[in-house]
Amino acid sequence: MVVIFLHDLPMATGRTIHNLALIGFMGCGKSTVGHMVARDLKFRFVDTDSLVEERAGISVAEIFRSEGESVFRKLEKEVISDLAGKQELVIATGGGAVINPENFESLKTHALLVCLWAKAESIHERTKHQKHRPLLQREDPLGVIRQMLTEREPFYKQADVIVNTELRPQREVVAQVRHQFEESIKGTSGFAKD
Ligand code: S3P
Repeated sequence: MVVIFLHDLPMATGRTIHNLALIGFMGCGKSTVGHMVARDLKFRFVDTDSLVEERAGISVAEIFRSEGESVFRKLEKEVISDLAGKQELVIATGGGAVINPENFESLKTHALLVCLWAKAESIHERTKHQKHRPLLQREDPLGVIRQMLTEREPFYKQADVIVNTELRPQREVVAQVRHQFEESIKGTSGFAKD
């Protein structure tokens, strides 16, 4: 089933949409879908985790291990704030990025916020063999995912658009995200203008 919720239409708030930002929990497909949408829109794809890694010179997992989560969050905030003023980007954000309201508000000034949504069980299935996400390297990953998803849901649900990725082929999710972006900039004087 396709479930799309539309909130707070961007044009109604006077925002100018230059970019598309994908938000949502780990393992919902933000990077994969983001790459494909960027290719379709002929936008540049950026991933905030990769930007953090470039800045730090080490992987996200290493930052968590050697510096702690707070250092990662500081770098994440910096790279997100640097994206303001950029255009024609598809931005995949880390799953915890928009839990900080400053990151959410910053992205909202220039990007349509699209949340990719999945159930805890599906997220667990998709991530259980992966090792690069420090927050999921715990004894009861499904329990951790359930708890974090419940805590984060109110933040994710503030997105402009929520696209349920359950039981849908990825190309449909990509088409839906692209459609939502194109609709959001329709009838404006041009998304790349101030
Ligand atoms: C995190 C998600 C990760 C990464 C970091 C923390 C989170 O990104 O930013 O491990 O807090 O949910 P992905 O959502 O791309 O896995």
